[in-house]
Amino acid sequence: MAAIRIGSVLLLMLAVLPFGLYSLLRGAALGTPDEVASRLFHEDALAPTAALYLHMVAGGALSILAPLQLLGAVRRRWPAIHRGTGRVTLGLAGITGLGGLIYIGALGTIGGLWMSFGFALYGALVIAVAWATWRSAVDRSPTHPDWAARMVVLALGSWLYRVQYGLWELGTGGIGVREDFTGWFDRIQVLAFYLPWLMALELWLARRRSHAFP
Ligand code: HEM
Repeated sequence: MAAIRIGSVLLLMLAVLPFGLYSLLRGAALGTPDEVASRLFHEDALAPTAALYLHMVAGGALSILAPLQLLGAVRRRWPAIHRGTGRVTLGLAGITGLGGLIYIGALGTIGGLWMSFGFALYGALVIAVAWATWRSAVDRSPTHPDWAARMVVLALGSWLYRVQYGLWELGTGGIGVREDFTGWFDRIQVLAFYLPWLMALELWLARRRSHAFP
């Protein structure tokens, strides 16, 4: 059972790695000619631009590292490592959420108000859940594993966003997708990359609780 779990986590990390590295490297490339020419670079608003590129670096590292926290073997055998990587992961989540929110507050998003709302809610949830995960760890609360699971789902949200677009493109050729992110599929995606996954997790946690305390 432990071997299956370790294998699944490693597979997940491997699947997330290309996007995580892309994000990290793109964020670190701030100021290069390619990025200065990008629509996300705003010469007249350098602070929010820098916040967005910092969020790419932190978010890339967050996506790669977050699944590590699911490894029970590490938690049990090397709790100090689990605590250390946990602090780093939660710090990265805070920076990612805040960087994205600063950019949205100052410049909005390409898809307009609806996309800005969906992404801002996502950012607020990332920050709130990171805080709750940290508090529950410090308090040694029995709710810590549940908060940590929510954190991992949210940390993977940005990757799921791209995976869902990729699958939709493959399956339908991109019906409802527009270049300016205002198609009907784009509008659904703005919430669908994290809310349904969070709801599925809540159902699973509730089921697990009812089995533990019949
Ligand atoms: C969880 C890890 C995250 C990663 C790895 C990540 C990565 C990225 C990347 C690479 C881009 C540039 C566009 C692209 O190349 O696809 C981007 C854009 C953006 N991200 Fe994130 N992100 C993460 C989380 C967040 C969060 C929590 C928020 C919300 C506060 C957010 C808000 C934004 C916004 C507003 C944009 C620009 C949207 C536009 O095109 O107008 N991201 N992100």
